[in-house]
Amino acid sequence: MLKLSEKMGRLGTETAFEVLARAEVLAHEGKDIINLGIGQPDFKSPPHVVEAAIRALRDGHHGYTPSPGISTLREAVAADILKYRGVEVSPEQIVVVPGGKVTMFFAILMFGEPGVEILYPNPGFPIYESMIEFSGAKAIPTPLPENRDFSFDAEEVLSLITPQTRLLIVNSPANPTGGTVPREELDKLVSGLEAHPHVAILSDEIYARMTYDNRAHVSLLGYPQLADRLILLDGWSKTYAMTGWRMGYAVWPKTLVEGATRLAVNCHSCVNASAQFAGIAALEGPQGAVDEMVAAFDQRRGVIVEGLNALPGVRCRRPGGAFYAFPNIEGTGMDARTLQNRLLEETGVATVAGTSFGAQGEGFIRFSYANSVDNIERALERMQTLLAG
Ligand SMILES: Cc1ncc(COP(=O)(O)O)c(C=O)c1O
Repeated sequence: MLKLSEKMGRLGTETAFEVLARAEVLAHEGKDIINLGIGQPDFKSPPHVVEAAIRALRDGHHGYTPSPGISTLREAVAADILKYRGVEVSPEQIVVVPGGKVTMFFAILMFGEPGVEILYPNPGFPIYESMIEFSGAKAIPTPLPENRDFSFDAEEVLSLITPQTRLLIVNSPANPTGGTVPREELDKLVSGLEAHPHVAILSDEIYARMTYDNRAHVSLLGYPQLADRLILLDGWSKTYAMTGWRMGYAVWPKTLVEGATRLAVNCHSCVNASAQFAGIAALEGPQGAVDEMVAAFDQRRGVIVEGLNALPGVRCRRPGGAFYAFPNIEGTGMDARTLQNRLLEETGVATVAGTSFGAQGEGFIRFSYANSVDNIERALERMQTLLAG
């Protein structure tokens, strides 16, 4: 009998990938599947980004690079942060990693161990809770109630901090709810955190460029009082439709960047060299493709929110960012997992049960509207038929 480490038993997963696998099996059997389950843009990466990677390969960039990323890429990230967040950071603080997930993995490994508490959003991206448990730390959920448009109450978050708290994870705009935290709430959180200098903050801003209704993205990096303990997570996956390239980055406080780089050396050495050149082209090249994609998401957001609200037993808040709708489905009489399974098996519509994003997601379903208006409308019709029957 092979004996695994005890922590392997505490490692969770991301159910969206299970839904994707099942949807692919059904599609292979000939079923017409509409995939509103997976959290990735349905757009292709911009052509100039693809060309930059091909050129890098032709130019012979086939070897290892410095572990935190090639210097021109780190400089391009710093310039992008100045452009979109108005904050000056040193390229030395930037560690490029294979996807946004790797930054959360590193940050949680860096702080998590038995006896420690880590606060994370619930409902939230499932890897936070999974990794916290894996590290041996205690995962403390910070609620994101529907009646606050899935934003937190800063006072409630602050009240959960104890002397054992080492890390607070914030995600705005959020997966799975599309919620955004208003500036006033972030102001309150930051001023309250002054009383807790032992708490580091991981701000997952991977959907920063996807906000709607003229809402400006508010970055926690913009608060200089947090500079020595804020880890900013972002990347290329969502903004440039580059999920398969595996490109993410973090801005680390000066005192933590060496530890992050050491984790990178131990884990993956460096990110694929040609992908790094693609990353430079994405940041420095034309941004029209991003704007067009976000405009398309905005239009689809209108269609899906209105359509969901017209269904019996369903009510849906208007999400302020990302590309997810998170309707309350309690009125259908089904729990989230049952509705997810019936939608997929009986109607061919892939969604993800809210419980995949934590216990507080019961009574909700996540729809990714990274799909055509036509497919969204067909999915809503199928759901209408299921609920009416
Ligand atoms: C909130 C959030 N953070 C991070 C990630 C990870 O992104 P990546 O694919 O770059 O690892 C995702 C992906 O779905 C996400 O939703």
